[in-house]
Amino acid sequence: MDDKKIKIGVLVSGNGSNFQAIVDALESGYIKNADIVCLVSNKAEAFALERAKKHNVAAIVLDHKSYPDRKLYDAALVEILKNQGVQLVVLAGFMRLLSPVMIDAFPNSIINIHPALLPAFPGLDAQKQAFEYGVRYTGCTVHFVDSGTDTGPIILQTVVPLLGTDTLETLTDRIHGEEHRTYVEAIRLFCEGRLHLEGRRVFINEQNTTIYA
Ligand code: GRF
Repeated sequence: MDDKKIKIGVLVSGNGSNFQAIVDALESGYIKNADIVCLVSNKAEAFALERAKKHNVAAIVLDHKSYPDRKLYDAALVEILKNQGVQLVVLAGFMRLLSPVMIDAFPNSIINIHPALLPAFPGLDAQKQAFEYGVRYTGCTVHFVDSGTDTGPIILQTVVPLLGTDTLETLTDRIHGEEHRTYVEAIRLFCEGRLHLEGRRVFINEQNTTIYA
């Protein structure tokens, strides 16, 4: 493990296709200055655990049912992540709300991906909410996590049109594809130190901008 690299911890509850996209981006060198040091799942049956093992990422199960409340669960989570030296927490289909215990332990360094264009359609079943509402455009949002549900400062968004031929399944699939690209991009920007937060606004430092006098 290279000490100069940003240490990422990924939290999941299920399939882990976003985790896979991040692993692929690290292995291909698209994201250079980071390592995933652990993946934590609150569910023992999550397929993401298999993906982690295949890529030699420490795969840890922390079952929320073993803890009497959210704060104690989050305290255990913080301990695991801090022991691994985690600097960036990536929520990738982690189906639990975080308490202030987690949020305060990782200020401005927990990010989430949501399958809609926030602030529209927060919470569960975002693709279904957008589909049933009959929007022309939906998409996905990567944001910093604060104490609200899907309310933190927005890092990146990608628009996905709702086509006349779409079913909920085809729409969900297209959003999922965009999620993978958008999450990788956001993590790359974070790890390159190019995200800068002012209040609710996230500014991106353009690396290749040349300023002419
Ligand atoms: C994604 O749709 C993500 O937006 C949401 O949970 C889902 C996780 O999918 N937060 P996967 O486990 O990464 O395939």
